[in-house]
Amino acid sequence: AASTLPDRPDYARLIEHDRVHGSLYTDPRVFADELERIFYRGWVYVGHESEIPQPNDYTVKSIGPQSVIMSRDRHGTVHLLLNRCSHRANQLCEAARGNSRALRCQYHGWTFGTDGALLGYPFRQGYDGAAAKAELGLGRVARVESYRGFVFGSFAAEGPSLREHLGAATDVLDRLARLSPEGEVELTGGWLRHEVRANWKMLVENETDGYHPQFVHASIFEVGQSHVAEVYSEKSAATARDLGRGHTEHDLRPQFRSLDVPLGWFGTSEDRLPDYARAMRESYGDTGAREILVDGAPHVMIFPNLFIAEIQLFVLQPLAVDRTVQHVTPLRFKGAPDLNRRLLHQVSGSVGPAGFLLADDSEMYERNQRGVGAREPEWLVLRRGLHRERIDDEGHLAGAATDETPQRGIWRHLKEILTDGANE
Ligand code: FES
Ligand code: FE
Repeated sequence: AASTLPDRPDYARLIEHDRVHGSLYTDPRVFADELERIFYRGWVYVGHESEIPQPNDYTVKSIGPQSVIMSRDRHGTVHLLLNRCSHRANQLCEAARGNSRALRCQYHGWTFGTDGALLGYPFRQGYDGAAAKAELGLGRVARVESYRGFVFGSFAAEGPSLREHLGAATDVLDRLARLSPEGEVELTGGWLRHEVRANWKMLVENETDGYHPQFVHASIFEVGQSHVAEVYSEKSAATARDLGRGHTEHDLRPQFRSLDVPLGWFGTSEDRLPDYARAMRESYGDTGAREILVDGAPHVMIFPNLFIAEIQLFVLQPLAVDRTVQHVTPLRFKGAPDLNRRLLHQVSGSVGPAGFLLADDSEMYERNQRGVGAREPEWLVLRRGLHRERIDDEGHLAGAATDETPQRGIWRHLKEILTDGANE
């Protein structure tokens, strides 16, 4: 009998080097393949160790639509556990975070340790002893690794290491950590959850899109932070880079170096943050601190779901082919309380409920989704800057700040995953 399942989409035909087909954003079969091959197989960013500093701390996170508990057991080891009771699959944790020696299921009262082990169940005489108990711990994400406190998980028991997956993106995370006098990022500023009716790839592609800010964010550029407008102009010294494996970056350092103002990237100067500037000089020396403060914070999209934009961090969570959640938090740097206060203030002004930045981008995502959802999906053109791409000093393919080099890099990686099954 003929299978009732439709054929897999023909990715080799739908993804070209300078254009991609609209159905890639609307076809539920594409979304199912992406979940299977990217989110349920490759490395995915889940959370940061600073969110669970104490033994028995836990917090609820996600990998795609799957709810996951990130916990620190009583010995200090970090686990990624499925947020699903191993008895009859009730969602275990409802609170966003907490500290407890035991997580108790509300349905029949089974309890689990923060390492995922089944601790006990009511009415023990109904079960035949310890053997069953050992088998019935919580399901877990097969591999958990972290880099500079950023915790990633992979459901595949084998495959490339996290270091291999991150590749050149490790350097960007190193640059980020150096902005802390103690070399550590902290994500303890609380989370904003914002859902959009759009495919997750539209967000990924937009995070390092330097072509839209002059138009979509024109109102913000008018009210302040004028250096940002220059970054995304045709005269900008910044570059858009393909870091490989789907990771992309706007390298803003050349532009900020031309300003040559410590903290100029942050729209301020050293004398406005004297404690921070002093702590940086103590840690890195006068010259080292100056270089770090001129270069500023990175702007990077780490495939498939972690976006760091100078002052804030976004985690993308695909829920359906046309539904994506953005989880947003201000960046915080250990040992920099005055900087952290200003970061929180700036982030609430840009992406908080009163901010324009997130709302402006989100409106574009939804309009974009309505466009590709037309009766006859058409091609999306990714040709900008193709003729002026070059290999930069660090060996990465780079274009001008407003070029579509990042988008082409993302699609090159997606094509590889969806056709050959890289990540397998
Ligand atoms: Fe959790 Fe029954 S479903 S105890
Ligand atoms: Fe934007």
